[in-house]
Amino acid sequence: MRSAALVAEQSYEGATAGGTAVLSLSLRDFRNYAELHLRLSGQPVVLTGPNGAGKTNILEALSFFSPGRGLRRARLSEVSRVSGQPARRCWVAHAELATAIGPVAIGTGLAEAVGDEELAERRIVRINGEPAASANGLAEYLDVVWLTPQMDRLFVEGLSTRRRFMDRLVYGLDGGHARQVAAFERAMRERNRLLKMGGADPAWLAALESQMAEHGVAVAAARREALGRIEAGMALATGPFPRARLAAQGVIEAWLADMPALAAEEKYRAVLAERRGIDREAGAATEGPHRSDMAVWHAEKDQPAALCSTGEQKALLIAITLANARLIRARRQMAPLMLLDEISAHLDARRRAALYEELLALGGQVWLTGTDDDLFTGLAGQAEFFTVADGVVTPRAAFS
Ligand SMILES: Nc1ncnc2c1ncn2[C@@H]1O[C@H](COP(=O)(O)OP(=O)(O)O)[C@@H](O)[C@H]1O
Ligand SMILES: [Mg+2]
Repeated sequence: MRSAALVAEQSYEGATAGGTAVLSLSLRDFRNYAELHLRLSGQPVVLTGPNGAGKTNILEALSFFSPGRGLRRARLSEVSRVSGQPARRCWVAHAELATAIGPVAIGTGLAEAVGDEELAERRIVRINGEPAASANGLAEYLDVVWLTPQMDRLFVEGLSTRRRFMDRLVYGLDGGHARQVAAFERAMRERNRLLKMGGADPAWLAALESQMAEHGVAVAAARREALGRIEAGMALATGPFPRARLAAQGVIEAWLADMPALAAEEKYRAVLAERRGIDREAGAATEGPHRSDMAVWHAEKDQPAALCSTGEQKALLIAITLANARLIRARRQMAPLMLLDEISAHLDARRRAALYEELLALGGQVWLTGTDDDLFTGLAGQAEFFTVADGVVTPRAAFS
């Protein structure tokens, strides 16, 4: 039997003309898949099948090859397969990938709880067979970007969803952003805890506020920088997708428009010291980058995205995602893995053709889903086609 590493090695050369590609995917007890094994060539992958067949579940499994909670933001135990048997909480997703820095085998999942049922959920991550300390190690090998129907309401829903979307955009363009966000949140939680307890040592609070200021300003600066580059990237794009203006909106982001980072740090430190009483009352830090929003305007129409039609909003999201993917490719010398759930159905024929053309030019592996085979005729000969039915995935001869 050929080893996993050898298989990946052999298929590697052809598969990575500039992008990350999944060459094999195995799932066990993940959503409606008791067991799934797919071998792939590295080309774009098209999954078609009826509603509820398990298409999005496959994209969700792939989204767990990046740090965080996956594209449905599900808890780890939520995705483990529910069947007639007594519920088992563990699941596994494993893949062999070709990346710009070489082949890599990734495994992730939820391990069987040993003994104590109340044991906290812990995500297991293995990279090339070795246990990894956290899922953050995955980001060294690949970027995963996605667009799902749930994101259709991004511009009209609560700002936390938008802020998460914004930070995910930044993760792909700034390797230090995730660490800065985590460090800010750690210091903030600790300060919240001290304030709540009362009677905290002011020097200790001040030290935490210094950390919040340092990391918080870094977070805000990275957002400004990344959104600026995405906006510039969109301005250069040709084709039928709209251009957007983007802005990170928050107190610190606003300060950074007219003062250097060090001055903003000092100012935020002073704000935090001044607001200890207010923040204690509120039970939370009432100002900071954890409250920021992302503003998006349709550039040609000079209109906030929230006022645009549903179709225009979708087109804006696609344009932002494509611009982000191009910048990730430029930074990493490899296109991200792209998961586009039910995107094609929302586009007219001209935009659909333009999307496929751009995805093929990007050169990464894109996973597309839809209920209707006909949406994907434009990819005939340039993609692998699978039919998904009731948790079974079968290769489909494409448009013969
Ligand atoms: N934890 C789970 N265990 C078993 N089945 C699940 C679980 N979560 C979701 N499902 C099933 O997965 C199916 C939905 O799959 P999905 O990938 O969203 O379908 P679609 O092909 O429409 O994208 C539904 O039939 C749902 O009942
Ligand atoms: Mg779906």
